[in-house]
Amino acid sequence: MDFFKEEQNDSWERLRAECGGCMRCELGKTRHNLVFGVGNEQADVMFIGEGPGEQEDLKGEPFVGPAGKLLDTMLELIDLDRTQVYIANIVKCRPPRNRDPLPDEQAACVGWLDRQIALVDPKIIVFLGRIAAMAFIKSDFRITREHGQWFDVQGRKAMAIYHPSALLRDPSKRPETFVDLKTLQREIKNLYA
Ligand code: URA
Repeated sequence: MDFFKEEQNDSWERLRAECGGCMRCELGKTRHNLVFGVGNEQADVMFIGEGPGEQEDLKGEPFVGPAGKLLDTMLELIDLDRTQVYIANIVKCRPPRNRDPLPDEQAACVGWLDRQIALVDPKIIVFLGRIAAMAFIKSDFRITREHGQWFDVQGRKAMAIYHPSALLRDPSKRPETFVDLKTLQREIKNLYA
């Protein structure tokens, strides 16, 4: 009950202050910077990645390395930019050597993201890659088969697409992602129709 009441009174200032010094898991010990999130705090569309990489850890901002450059291009393809969307990650601190965040690290961290989602209140959520999709859509999510499909997540339209890092490693997946992005663009247009 108290927890619910706290959520009702949540604010960005409060969330930033509480999250800023987080030491809920071991990743807090090795980070240079906590990577909170960036973008339009009233966005209709939110993008959720997995966790910060090296560049993000150094800068304290999500998707600023090579994968981030590709994410910017993907946004451009559908007439979006970072000022129009909100971007955050499942875990806020860099996992060593960019390994996948462990289940207990995700569990310790995801409450911050839940509060970010509640504050942004997006109409559409796009999960970048398998790890984010498994955390929010379903634990057995298969990115190869289910990317580009719409799901309901907490009453919001949600889709997962290939992570930009996967597209850097395997450019043959780019045409499928282009189709997914166009599906997303149509849904965004429907919001304003
Ligand atoms: N990969 C992610 O999932 N998030 C980032 O912020 C950067 C790379």
